[in-house]
Amino acid sequence: MSTAKPVTANIVWHPNTVTRAQREAQNLHRGAIIWFTGLSGAGKSTLAHAVAEFLHRQGCQTFVLDGDNVRHGLCSDLSFSMQDRQENIRRIGEVAKLFMEAGIIVLTAFISPYCQDRERVRNSVAANDFIEIYCDTPLEICEKRDVKGIYKKARAGQILDFTGISSPYQVPENPELVVNGTTPLPSCVEQIINLIIKRGIYLPATETI
Ligand code: ADX
Repeated sequence: MSTAKPVTANIVWHPNTVTRAQREAQNLHRGAIIWFTGLSGAGKSTLAHAVAEFLHRQGCQTFVLDGDNVRHGLCSDLSFSMQDRQENIRRIGEVAKLFMEAGIIVLTAFISPYCQDRERVRNSVAANDFIEIYCDTPLEICEKRDVKGIYKKARAGQILDFTGISSPYQVPENPELVVNGTTPLPSCVEQIINLIIKRGIYLPATETI
């Protein structure tokens, strides 16, 4: 799995002796990246965790990478400037690829507001490895929910560069799936699971969604 070119010389790639294919054969499903994008409060994390839970019950290896969590550790040095969001998504993309290489279905829940950053991740893996899901919840609804109270702060000018208010969100041009933020959760989960099955990432058991 080659990624970005190191800035220093004399760095040699060492392939895993247990291959991705061997891990996938043991797991009885493929590794993949399920990439959720949308405004803060659009339901990305809720959906990602619901899908992960369903797949887990089916015996799949899953993991959710979540914006707020990753910014507590790996990306705690990054702000919400355009450059730092770009770096945030680059790092998440690299981590997601490692999870996928480990045979895991990794679900990422980041605003990831720039098309170019999302496309960079998509283009760095095989076509079948990346599923982009746009959580299409209008700003008014996200703002009304305001679970974390941050829209209120952003409107009061206490948070700068806030997505949807003082920083842009670029709607995906060709996502694999668009889920409407007002659709009930089980129905959204069903749509996503059906897509995962259609992509041959895992074979369904008998449980209904
Ligand atoms: S991203 O734009 O770089 O992809 P990320 O998903 O990691 O963002 O983090 C978004 C979360 O950080 C939001 O859900 C919100 O809780 C919090 N947050 C704090 N400040 C901002 C801001 N200026 N813009 C958007 N979200 C913010």
